[in-house]
Amino acid sequence: MNNRERPIGFFDSGVGGISVLKESLKVLPNEDFVYFGDSLNAPYGIKNVNEVRKLTFKAVDFLLEKGVKVVVIACNTATSAAIDALRRRYKDIPIIGIEPALKPAVEVSRGKSVIIMATPMTLTEKKFDNLMKLYNKEVDIIPLPCAGLVELIENGIIDGDEINEYLKGKLKEFSHLDVAAIVLGCTHYPFIKKELIKIVGEKTIIIDGSIGTVNQLKRQLTSNNLLNEKTKKGIVTIYSSSTNDNTIDLSYKLLKL
Ligand code: DGL
Repeated sequence: MNNRERPIGFFDSGVGGISVLKESLKVLPNEDFVYFGDSLNAPYGIKNVNEVRKLTFKAVDFLLEKGVKVVVIACNTATSAAIDALRRRYKDIPIIGIEPALKPAVEVSRGKSVIIMATPMTLTEKKFDNLMKLYNKEVDIIPLPCAGLVELIENGIIDGDEINEYLKGKLKEFSHLDVAAIVLGCTHYPFIKKELIKIVGEKTIIIDGSIGTVNQLKRQLTSNNLLNEKTKKGIVTIYSSSTNDNTIDLSYKLLKL
């Protein structure tokens, strides 16, 4: 097999990275994908940085054993904790990360506030601090740590009362503000976007980082001469560390949503 025919590796702490994989399938339909979700160890966002780094290395080793040609860290938390260390260790393979899409949110904000929902770790790491320094002079940016939300989504709860109450509780203190946009800074959150719209209304723009990440993936494949040239539809293979049989079913269900 030549390098171009090898699959693209995707990693997330659980089923969240499927939201990025979905976008990738639209842009790169002829590529094969191997997805690994570490649902056994999710959530990452409330662990310490060293632990997340160790788990991320282990996941990337697993993907490399599957022969992937590039790795996408489809997890904001793992990206903020480990991307620099990953690039130092795996020098021969392109590694693409994801970060909260603050730039497009600030661009549409027209002086109003922007809320950024993410895991506690993403919002306290240096990478996010650097992003804030870039943009918070222009706009009022409100970081909103959402501990507990990943657990609900990992259990397949993406709509209904429980999600609705969780989101209402998180957002109620900002109801007096004119919020232009909400950034989904965790790859699990696009799956609860419909519930979020019910609460904040259609006018609030909801942005996630998947499109930027997929564009970056395509650029990397192109510049490294790794685009698959076959014309038939690619294959997606999903692995999970979870001991719960439902996790793989949930992953395929989310992929089809
Ligand atoms: N999908 C991960 C992210 O983008 C969730 C992290 C977690 O497991 O807490 O941040």
